[in-house]
Amino acid sequence: MTSLEILRKEHKALEIELKELEALISPEIDEIEGEEEEKEVNYPNLTHTIKRLIEFWNSHEGKEEKFLREMEDKYQNLKFDTILFQHKELSGHKTVIMNAINSGNEFEIKVALDTDGRIILDKIRKHMKEENELFDKIKNKAQ
Ligand SMILES: [Fe+2]
Ligand SMILES: [Fe+2]
Repeated sequence: MTSLEILRKEHKALEIELKELEALISPEIDEIEGEEEEKEVNYPNLTHTIKRLIEFWNSHEGKEEKFLREMEDKYQNLKFDTILFQHKELSGHKTVIMNAINSGNEFEIKVALDTDGRIILDKIRKHMKEENELFDKIKNKAQ
């Protein structure tokens, strides 16, 4: 498998992790005897999922940065800056979430996930979409 194929495969695996996180942080309303109650968040499960996602993300990004730097030298007419800048931007949100998790305070985790958690879901998806488009351009040039 080429680096490009590995990265694409990881994007698919990351999307599965994102869906899982999304399901855990989206409040589902359970109707119990006519009264609406917000589903209780399972924090141990949630922190486990986030830690796994961030670990996976970091290892993916490491491989990707190495690959993109190589491609940047090879294909100077393609734009790599935006993608690389987005890695820095995402890392800011990741830090906020990890700090909240490390605090062990459920309220802090809830606040971080309601803000940075939701932002990161959108941004990671948009980022991976842009990367896939860039990968297509690289593939076309390499042919
Ligand atoms: Fe990336
Ligand atoms: Fe990526």
